[in-house]
Formats: sequence, C-alpha cells, structure tokens
Amino acid sequence: MERDVIVACDFSGAEQLYGFLDKFTDRKPFVKIGMELFYAEGPQIVREIKARGHKIFLDLKLHDIPNTVKKTMAVLSRLDIDICNLHAAGATAMMQGALEGLTRADGSRPLLIAVTQLTSTDQETLERDLLINKPIDEVVMHYALTAKNAGLDGVVCSPLEAAKVHETCGRQFLTVTPGVRFAACDKGDQKRVMTPAQAKLAGSDFIVVGRPVAAAENPVAAYNRCVKEFIG
Ligand code: C5P
Repeated sequence: MERDVIVACDFSGAEQLYGFLDKFTDRKPFVKIGMELFYAEGPQIVREIKARGHKIFLDLKLHDIPNTVKKTMAVLSRLDIDICNLHAAGATAMMQGALEGLTRADGSRPLLIAVTQLTSTDQETLERDLLINKPIDEVVMHYALTAKNAGLDGVVCSPLEAAKVHETCGRQFLTVTPGVRFAACDKGDQKRVMTPAQAKLAGSDFIVVGRPVAAAENPVAAYNRCVKEFIG
C-alpha cells in the first residue's frame, strides 16, 4: 500500500464524524477509527465510511488468548478494512492466530500491525508495573521483531523510532506513526513529535494525524498541508 496520511477520527458519535468527513469533497482521507467511535456506533459505522470511499485503519488493539483473537479477526476481516491492529504483548501464538483469522477464503487480508509499548508507558512504568528491567527502546525493538517473525506487516511507533524499526526489521516492515504536529510548540499531550516533512525524512510509511487536522480552523487545508509535506 502507498505511503499515506491517516486522519484519526476520534469522535464519540456518527453525527460529529459525518460533519467532519462531509468537508472533504476532493481527496477522501484514509481514516483511523478507534475504540470510542467503534463502541459507540458499532460495525455499521465502518461499512458506511467504507461505502463513502475511504480507506480504514480500525484501531481496536486486540489483546486476548489466541483463539479469541483469531475468531474476532475473522469477524473484522468481513468489514473490508485496510489495516487493523493488536498488542504485540499478546505474544507470537496470538499474532499468528490473528493472521489466520484475518485471512479471507480468497487469501486476501487487511494489513495487520502491532502496538509495541504504548507511548503512555515510560521506563518507570515498565520497571515498576510490568517488571521489565530493560531500556524501553530495546523492548520496543524486540516486540517489533517478534511481530515481524510472527508474520505481521508492521508496527505503530513514534516517528523518532521509525528508522530504528526499519534497521531492525527491514525496510518493507511498515511504520505507522502518530505524534505528528506542524510545529514543536503545538504538542498538546504528545511528548515526542515530528512534522509531516520530518516524518517523511525519518522513513515513516503512514502518519496518523488527529487534532492538527480535526481541531484546525480549516481541516481540509490542514489535511492538504499534511499530504503535501508527507507525500509531496
Ligand atoms: O490528536 P493526535 O494527532 O495526537 O492523535 C493521534 C492519534 O494516534 C490518536 O488517535 C491516538 O490515540 C493515536 N495513538 C497515539 N500514540 C500511539 C498510538 C496511537 O497517539 N502510540
């Protein structure tokens, strides 16, 4: 799949979502649907967005026993989504089960990527709560490699980690990177950010942009700016 800008649709209901998507009359953005919207509106919202011509990253971050994840992925694969994800912490058998479940009868499947460590987890949390006594970037790279060896297509990571993930897992292994801002002074609650142009240079395959587009005075102009900087 081509490098692209993914717009995070972090809305709590269909009305807000459509109010936002209706603004895009020209290029239809690749959208990310998270737990909030999916749990509020159910799978029908995914079918409707797809019918409007958008590509979809369904960000549900599955993490359960292999059999449950496999069966859930089989259900999600019927939604005709383009990318979905899980937690690499679910380990190899769960990731392999997910791939099996996701693969349709004709052999096609959405891309499957892994969350390594949440960006809300820092070194202290890793050691204190998870009892993992290794540097966090080593842990992230190990989880990325485990995901790759399980057959997954890529990981969600910071744009600052994209180059190292590619070094560790190969250039073909996808990096999907949130934490994108137009300027460092506009970080919000994201701590480690890059501009779309910097993310491109860092080798990100997809950038995930939420508030810089959704909360912009002119969301379409902000989206077009991301596309211009990231894709050219
Ligand atoms: O508004 P903002 O650009 O910060 O939105 C980024 C999106 O990416 C949000 O939907 C957020 O939940 C998601 N995300 C993230 N960091 C991760 C994984 C997902 O910011 N590690």
